Amino acid sequence: MTSPVHILAIVGSYRKGGTIDMVVDEMLASAKEAGAQTRKLYLIDKHLLFCINCRSCTQREGLRHGACVLDDDMESVFKELDWADALILGSPMNAGTVTAVMKVFLERLVSTAYWPWGAPAPKNRSPKKTKRAVLVASSAAPAFLAKFTGDVTRALKSAAGMLGARTIGILFVGLAARQQHQELSARVRKKARFFGKKLVGDH
Ligand SMILES: Cc1cc2nc3c(=O)[nH]c(=O)nc-3n(C[C@H](O)[C@H](O)[C@H](O)COP(=O)(O)O)c2cc1C
Repeated sequence: MTSPVHILAIVGSYRKGGTIDMVVDEMLASAKEAGAQTRKLYLIDKHLLFCINCRSCTQREGLRHGACVLDDDMESVFKELDWADALILGSPMNAGTVTAVMKVFLERLVSTAYWPWGAPAPKNRSPKKTKRAVLVASSAAPAFLAKFTGDVTRALKSAAGMLGARTIGILFVGLAARQQHQELSARVRKKARFFGKKLVGDH
């Protein structure tokens, strides 16, 4: 018997029960139905300090991410990430990019790179992408416009890459949160369920 796929969703929205959260729930539900084990992590529930660019974490070679000088929840987030075979990374578009909390998380992923002083650019410690990722973004603007004017998916894709994950799907929900409590459309739900299954199926 093969072991179930482990899927971890990282929610970078500030609103539990909001657009990103609802899409993530739909994806996780369909992945679960397809046999996956799932977990969801809200970045707003974690104590994450912003990176101070000291680069201590990037100085030593090795496959494992480098140790950070900051004392917060990032190590426990890495433990959750170790558990996962596949990821869902979600963020609304705020001011043209990912939310501040997602950006903090993204910058902290610098420890996944080997970047000693003197080297011009960081090198990913594990260039092989063994995990899979689906990205979820939302915007008040129509999706086509938001994709064109913002960089949410680029930022999330870069986070996936740093985490050794290949992006296999992107769900961008435009015209989001027009009401305080806005249900997902049937089309978005269907897409979310499709990607949830895809995360399991591609295993
Ligand atoms: C501070 C702030 C900045 C925002 N910036 C943008 C933006 O640049 N473009 C856009 O289309 N929507 C913008 N929005 C709308 C959010 O993208 C929208 O509320 C979000 O996608 C809803 O996701 P949620 O329900 O998970 O919170 C912004 C909202 C806030 C509160």
